[in-house]
Amino acid sequence: MHLTNSDLLKTQAYVNGTFTEAKSGATFDVINPYNGEQISKVTDCGAADTESAIQAASAAFKVWRNYTAGKRARILKNWYKLQIENLEDLALILSTEQGKPLAESKGEIKYGASFVEWFAEEARRIYGDTIPGHAADKRIVTIKQPVGVVGAITPWNFPSAMITRKVAPALAAGCTVVIKPSELTPLSAIALAELAHQAGFPPGVINVVTSSDAKTIGAVMTASPLIRKISFTGSTRVGKILMKQCVDTVKKVSLELGGNAPFIVFDDADLDKAVAGAVAAKYRNAGQTCICANRIFAQADIYEAFVEKFTKAVKEQKIGSGLEAGTVIGPMIEEKAVQFVEAVVADAKEKGGQVLTGGRRHGDSATLIYEPTVLTEVNREMDVYKKEIFGPIAPVFKFETEAEVIEMANDTNYGLASYFYGRDYARIWRVAEALEYGMVGINTGMISTTVAPFGGIKESGFGREGSKYGMDDYLEIKYMCWGGIE
Ligand code: SIN
Repeated sequence: MHLTNSDLLKTQAYVNGTFTEAKSGATFDVINPYNGEQISKVTDCGAADTESAIQAASAAFKVWRNYTAGKRARILKNWYKLQIENLEDLALILSTEQGKPLAESKGEIKYGASFVEWFAEEARRIYGDTIPGHAADKRIVTIKQPVGVVGAITPWNFPSAMITRKVAPALAAGCTVVIKPSELTPLSAIALAELAHQAGFPPGVINVVTSSDAKTIGAVMTASPLIRKISFTGSTRVGKILMKQCVDTVKKVSLELGGNAPFIVFDDADLDKAVAGAVAAKYRNAGQTCICANRIFAQADIYEAFVEKFTKAVKEQKIGSGLEAGTVIGPMIEEKAVQFVEAVVADAKEKGGQVLTGGRRHGDSATLIYEPTVLTEVNREMDVYKKEIFGPIAPVFKFETEAEVIEMANDTNYGLASYFYGRDYARIWRVAEALEYGMVGINTGMISTTVAPFGGIKESGFGREGSKYGMDDYLEIKYMCWGGIE
């Protein structure tokens, strides 16, 4: 990998302001999912290393929380600027370890950095209240204070932006952090740590614990009384385990978990725009985002026309290495992810589903590229209806009425993102209100932005990231009752 700034390709954990090996000396391999080659060996931290990071974060909290908001904001702004200055290198590291097309990686670095800029600005706006008192001699005031040390456990599908989306509000609020990045994509996290080091964060404010043993690190973080909050993005299965583990120390928890997003096309929709929106919402990162359209529903009158245009657009996507110009669909993250989508497609075919395009690996059996796939003749007995696919598979269901599609859209334990296209404004309001989801895209397939609250309901989790609400999860409200004011 040729970087302009070779300092960014570090391979060690970052604890208490120092890049460091594991106490055991262990390392693990980071693999390029496009060609299966080893990119590097990375420090494999264990429980003792994680304890050290937590201790460092706890000591640093006493200092960092007392910085003025302006001083914290200035260091966050430095970090933001460094991310933008190193955009090309950060994107190259990201695409190499994660596989997504370079254009998407550049978009992710900008998206990730925008959280740092936004929360640097929000740091100065952590306001309290004065509340009209309940007695003549009393005055009531609230202040907001940082929760303490935060454990941030982040996924491989957005190795950079999911870190900054958690860490920037935490740091702005005055918290310190211990980050456990995915073992599949630790290099982006270490590169962010290097830039944080250059930005001037005091030692211990940001710590990155790289490890192949997520279970052990998660157990240490959740058991530690020094960690006051866990923020996790990942599967619903793991989110539930972490939530249970946080019970004994009664930690604050935010969870951004799985989804099963409906994407509804009503008969009055602008079909070309709906097709473009569906392609964007389905195939971003080869279908590996929590908010990817999972089930596409097209109304009977426009079903055939939609399927035809959609399939044509899906076939036009260039498949290949994320580092080649023009690639839209890169490899999936690992073999078991491909096997999962193969099983989901096989299940649909067994139950009568028709493959209009794709439905197989692209090339030999060793490749992790799965062709963008469109399925019709699908029904609610199939896994494509019930499970989060997390791959480039688009089942298109036919529906007749608004009531029917709302019932099907909400027929899931998940409640993260949802989308629909239509023009009738009364129906738009009805449908937006009826969808049991934390986020609704109306006539758009792209809803992610720093300035809006990202998060789900039901088994998709709780807590909001980004926007003015994104800071709340890292703050405690303290109420002061002043008496004796005669
Ligand atoms: C996710 O997949 O968890 C994040 C997607 C996004 O922020 O757009």
